[in-house]
Amino acid sequence: MSNRISLIAGNWKMNTELATARALADGIVERLREAPPKHAEVVLCAPFPFLGLVGERIEGTKLHLGAQTVSEEPSGAFTGEVSVAMLKSVGCEYVIVGHSERRTMFAESDRDVREKANAALDGGLKPIICIGETKIEREDGRAEAVIERQLRTALDGIYEFSARSCVIAYEPVWAIGAGTPATGAQIAEAHAHIRSILQSLYPEAAEEIRVIYGGSVNAANAREILALDNVDGALVGGASIDAEAFVTIVQSV
Ligand code: PGA
Repeated sequence: MSNRISLIAGNWKMNTELATARALADGIVERLREAPPKHAEVVLCAPFPFLGLVGERIEGTKLHLGAQTVSEEPSGAFTGEVSVAMLKSVGCEYVIVGHSERRTMFAESDRDVREKANAALDGGLKPIICIGETKIEREDGRAEAVIERQLRTALDGIYEFSARSCVIAYEPVWAIGAGTPATGAQIAEAHAHIRSILQSLYPEAAEEIRVIYGGSVNAANAREILALDNVDGALVGGASIDAEAFVTIVQSV
């Protein structure tokens, strides 16, 4: 048994508007006030425009604020981009980098992910680094190789001390939004593989780095997934915009 504290992160994606974002944050806060999470750190990754608001609503609670992506540039003429310093200034502690939707729809490469993870760490944000194979890559027997390439590239140049602040999210692309997660055996196998790569990179810090699973985690399957070896939490998409479902997942740790 490790002493890693599980992390449950809600990735709201491009959902909610001002009023619904407020109601969602309030709904989560209220439910967790009645039954505080005993074994989990909880992060709400709200859309950029609502980070300040959600930050205010969770103030004084044990909830943490996160963003869904970040620029690798510190400031300047990058229209539409958001910097690490901006996220810090509104109270973010975490940021998701390399989500598969960013990789596929916004052409983010392994190197971009590394730049973003590095920028986050340099500026004092904890990156939640997403990796995971596509359906075709799995069918071709390349899942392990893809995971290894994405992980090693993202962590290239990150020293052991900073690596402790990283969270790795294993998100098989084919399980995201699919309604059915990867099987327990598939998750356990991928997480063991990730842990062994971390051990080779960071002999001292590997046991402290959390490896969380994402892809169709919901209130009904969370307990089983979170009990698997080497699964230190979950990155939750669809079920994170339903306060009741999200809190049930948090309580499943
Ligand atoms: P999902 O999304 O829970 O809706 O499958 C997970 C994610 O994209 O992080």
